[in-house]
Amino acid sequence: MVIVMGNDHSAVDLKHEIKAHLEARGYEVRDFGTDSRESCDYAYYGEKVGRAVAAGEADLGILICGTGVGISLAANKVKGIRACVCSEPFSAKLSKMHNDTNILAFGARVVGSELAKMIVDEWLGAKFEGGRHQRRVDQIMEIENR
Ligand code: RB5
Repeated sequence: MVIVMGNDHSAVDLKHEIKAHLEARGYEVRDFGTDSRESCDYAYYGEKVGRAVAAGEADLGILICGTGVGISLAANKVKGIRACVCSEPFSAKLSKMHNDTNILAFGARVVGSELAKMIVDEWLGAKFEGGRHQRRVDQIMEIENR
């Protein structure tokens, strides 16, 4: 399982904590940066991670900015991406089970590192249920073709 990560300047420390957490659990992590605390633009990282996931170069993506909002909006502009911002584990888990999200985002200014790890663990541990949820996900993805 390959997970690609991206973040802006507000999330460098949290990114490294989550990356170490994932690697300790056996995931292969590709880190698209940034590792700089100088102000940068989150859209670049959201798109980069989105394109890697959409192209099948990674199985899943994790994005972190100050709120998780801007970077997930950018990722969602890439065809094939279903990114969601989660500040608690329940939504993260259900986003995989019902919405088949392929990118998880959260905010370094919103959640602490332990909560972030729980959010990530619930998301990674959940499985898409398919069935009626597949129909609904298909309806979402068809919007990209109109
Ligand atoms: C950067 O200051 C901040 O706007 C960004 O990290 C993110 O929260 C945007 O959605």
